[in-house]
Amino acid sequence: MRVLGIETSCDETGVAVYDTEQGLLTHQLFSQVNLHADYGGVVPELASRDHIRRIVPLTRQVVAEAGLALADLDGVAYTAGPGLMGALMVGASMARSLAWGLNIPAVGVHHMEGHLLAPMLEDAAPSLPFVALLVSGGHTMLVDVPRVGEYHLLGESLDDAAGEAFDKTAKLLGLDYPGGPLLAKLAEQGEADVYQFPRPMLDRPGCDFSFSGLKTYTLTTWQKSAQTPQDKANIARAFEEAVVDTLLQKSRRALKQTGRNTLVIAGGVGANKCLRARLQELAAQVYCPRLAFCTDNGAMIAYAGALRLQAGASEPPIITPRARWPLMELDALAI
Ligand code: KG4
Ligand code: ZN
Repeated sequence: MRVLGIETSCDETGVAVYDTEQGLLTHQLFSQVNLHADYGGVVPELASRDHIRRIVPLTRQVVAEAGLALADLDGVAYTAGPGLMGALMVGASMARSLAWGLNIPAVGVHHMEGHLLAPMLEDAAPSLPFVALLVSGGHTMLVDVPRVGEYHLLGESLDDAAGEAFDKTAKLLGLDYPGGPLLAKLAEQGEADVYQFPRPMLDRPGCDFSFSGLKTYTLTTWQKSAQTPQDKANIARAFEEAVVDTLLQKSRRALKQTGRNTLVIAGGVGANKCLRARLQELAAQVYCPRLAFCTDNGAMIAYAGALRLQAGASEPPIITPRARWPLMELDALAI
């Protein structure tokens, strides 16, 4: 079964074709970073308009690169939420219309399920059951995954998501958009142990997170410093270490609590080098997708949609994206 995947939940247009026999055939991404840079963050209306501009040519390109014609597709998967409503509508309308015209099924995919299953696209794929650490711009969750579609929340952020904390802290330090990767880059030039930042919520039981205090801590530390470029790098490093340390310690706790020995890390913050370098500290098998599949992409949507379509998912031809959508509401797949 060949499934076209379409991702348009935020500021990246991602399209891919996944073949259930041959694996991922092709994927392409158009990033809107330059479009939003002047505004210091994503402008939802501009995002929707740009998805409209890109989606048709990108789809044509991806299908051609896969050596296929549209008529060779057996299904279409699209991100149905959570995300920016207007942006979601573009992908949903494109996917549903294409499926209607080709007389093939379309399925709406949960964006975070896409992230969670992304490590399955790699040659060294994790086997179920596992614990997933989902760290993106909008979500930070630890989830127990006994099977695809059955997700039990172990803990989540009570305020800012990890990626959001990176982005907001970057802004406070005067870095450009997108802040997360820039802050991480600056941290590479920072010296270790110059500043000691708190590890939020570690003194409390459970697997919940809280990152908003770290942001304020960073700002006051910066204001009290001599504000040299090296100070900024040292502070960025201390912030990054505090976030990474907290994520790792809570993941360790989640593994212990569930008795699982496999951890999957997915979502944009999974691209963080410091986090990836420290994964071996966990006494578990850890799986993280390649960098391009940590951040938003069409491949993860094509894959998650292919699993659902293969398991017989069928939906009426109605366009119903959801800006908010708890992961725990999904149906488990009998596979
Ligand atoms: O998964 P993603 O591409 O989009 C969402 O679903 O939100 O995640 C984007 C988030 C942003 O907050 C971005 O700053 C963060 O991931 N991010 C990083 C890095 N690369 C992306 N955070 C820390 N270090 C990175 N290298
Ligand atoms: Zn995402």
